[in-house]
Amino acid sequence: MKRILAIETSCDETAAAIVEGNGEEPVRVVGQALASQIALHRQYGGVFPDLAAREHTKRILPVLGSALHDAGLIDNPRAAGQSIQRALAGVDALAVTNGPGLIGPLLVGTAAAMQLAKLSGKPLIGINHWEGHIYSAFLQSGPVSTQRFVVSSTGSFNNLQLTTDNSPATEPQFPLLVLTVSGGHTSLILMKHHLRYEILGQTLDDAAGEAFDKCARLLGLPYPGGPEISRRAALARSSDRQLTLKLPRPMLNRSLLDFSFSGLKTAVRYAIDRGDIRLPQDIDPAAREIEDAIIDVLLGKLAQAIAQTKPNSVAIVGGVSANRELRHRAREQLTVYVPDPQYSTDNAAMIGAAAIYRLARNESGVTDPLQLVTNASARL
Ligand code: KG4
Ligand code: ZN
Repeated sequence: MKRILAIETSCDETAAAIVEGNGEEPVRVVGQALASQIALHRQYGGVFPDLAAREHTKRILPVLGSALHDAGLIDNPRAAGQSIQRALAGVDALAVTNGPGLIGPLLVGTAAAMQLAKLSGKPLIGINHWEGHIYSAFLQSGPVSTQRFVVSSTGSFNNLQLTTDNSPATEPQFPLLVLTVSGGHTSLILMKHHLRYEILGQTLDDAAGEAFDKCARLLGLPYPGGPEISRRAALARSSDRQLTLKLPRPMLNRSLLDFSFSGLKTAVRYAIDRGDIRLPQDIDPAAREIEDAIIDVLLGKLAQAIAQTKPNSVAIVGGVSANRELRHRAREQLTVYVPDPQYSTDNAAMIGAAAIYRLARNESGVTDPLQLVTNASARL
């Protein structure tokens, strides 16, 4: 059994987690903390990279302290600076997202991890952010202590308890087909073994999360658009409101496993200009149609990929896999591994999970921690 301290700062969440696993069965989260910057970036309608990097620098130490405290490795999360080094005696390795993502935010996490690894003499494993999302499907589900807390720049803590839901208790079996859907990435990936990825198809333009975010903005909804569209779509469903207009379901009639979502936002923009979507009164039914269009395409392509590859297991991961309607409709149709919603969006537990499997298979790429390369445009 190995224990890893993992750090994720590639975008607008500062996250740390301590995870345990042997690379043979689902990874257990023993402690975690996450400081979200969503509220801060909302006023800009999206993530403002320089501001995100600055916020990570303020939050990285409190988040590390809180995660180690959550794991029982230090007594006082606020005295993190002195205690973190001692606490590292209780872990076998460190892991950090070293790309892809925003370079400023990435460097804050990698700098912290490189220095802590050097100080403690523990190995450091660099993890690709998409590999992390994929390995969220290998996290044990069930009740864990979840401190999704917000550290304000003045240092105050607000704890929010999150709900959990149940995924299959076993590990996904290979060949495993993974639909990765997030703000920067949409792809279908076939895994025949751990840590080996065959990309069957990917988006030719916007990612699914980006489509949610851009359509939401056209409707005048705040960032991030995914959860907002989902909430407004649910209102339309409960009051049985629907647009007469049908949005396109791009690429669905083609056997290729690629996606294309940029036409959707154009169709929404034209519909608003033509008056087929009237704002603000049609926001809810428009959100419903947008959500349905995106889910139809995602699940349609997933079905095509299943028919072509006949996998033993299927997983849906990434920020958009937090979408309730998508989870519900996917589960109606098939047995699918979907991470607990807190592990769908960016988090450090998934980075730790990927590192556990790399460590167990001697593929950790460990060298001198100070040689770790941060690459904003890293590929899987
Ligand atoms: O994985 P993630 O946290 O960050 C990236 O790696 O990109 O994904 C963020 C994306 C955003 O586009 C956000 O709108 C979308 O995931 N998202 C959702 C939901 N929650 C987050 N999309 C639809 N429904 C949701 N509930
Ligand atoms: Zn992500």
